[in-house]
Amino acid sequence: MIYNNLHLKQNNGITIITIDRPKKLNALNKETIHELHEAFDAANTDDETKVIIITGSGEKAFVAGADISEFADFEVGEGKDLAAKGQADLFDFVADLSTPVIAAVNGFALGGGLELAMACHFRLASDNAKLGLPEVSLGLIPGYGGTQRLPQLVGKGRAMEMIMTAGMIDAKTACDYGLVNHVVEQEALLPTCEKIAMKIAGNSLVAISAAIKAVNSSFDNEVNGFDVEIQEFGNCFGTDDFKEGTTAFLAKRKADFPGS
Ligand code: COA
Repeated sequence: MIYNNLHLKQNNGITIITIDRPKKLNALNKETIHELHEAFDAANTDDETKVIIITGSGEKAFVAGADISEFADFEVGEGKDLAAKGQADLFDFVADLSTPVIAAVNGFALGGGLELAMACHFRLASDNAKLGLPEVSLGLIPGYGGTQRLPQLVGKGRAMEMIMTAGMIDAKTACDYGLVNHVVEQEALLPTCEKIAMKIAGNSLVAISAAIKAVNSSFDNEVNGFDVEIQEFGNCFGTDDFKEGTTAFLAKRKADFPGS
């Protein structure tokens, strides 16, 4: 598929999706959200892809938010539809992917940009990154999961302060808050993400997708996460990856997982 707002690179089982609207600081317009859905879906179902990395083009921004020019004249119903469709097509979709997704936050991650990073399974940031949810400065609230995922990641008090002030935090503060796992210089951001991705790719991806499901269930009020863990744990015993992992351990050799 040809994308107007993304470019994709695949190497060593890692697919890097780069949002490519640098003149608009990679703001998420409708077309970009649609293309991201298609690209994540394709990477998730592609046998060659073991880990996905998402980043922004240019040195300034990961994503500076949803494209404000597209919703400036919306009314109530349109606003609700925008949030519901965006959450279903992109933000919840990414959070629930069975393939691990790492956000490489290479600059501004604001509004929908921070919400996209938070929907990923974990995040790294470059030392110039600035993160925030500025929606109340526009008379809005975060609509792509930000009011839910930010408190889960940083705690309620910090989330409330970030949302109410509409301010930005720097990468070091984001790391102190647990919002990003590591901060590195900008040139080192993708190589560091790729190094972590390679480490992930050496493990059982069947087991990793079960772990994603179990961890995500702890944030789902509809299910008991401990029950999901029991089910997923048990299901692992029926997989070829489990047989290979335990056989390789006992034979003192490196596992070569058939499901990966
Ligand atoms: N939606 C649409 N366009 C956006 C955008 C967004 N969220 N963020 C940036 N842009 C556009 C700007 O309008 C500008 O376009 P133009 O050159 O055609 O005028 C271009 O990207 C560059 O942005 P600019 O504001 O000139 O860069 P800056 O370095 O002065 O400021 C920011 C950078 C990130 C502080 C500023 O762009 C900003 O505050 N963006 C909006 C952030 C936001 O509120 N996001 C939440 C949306 S719900």
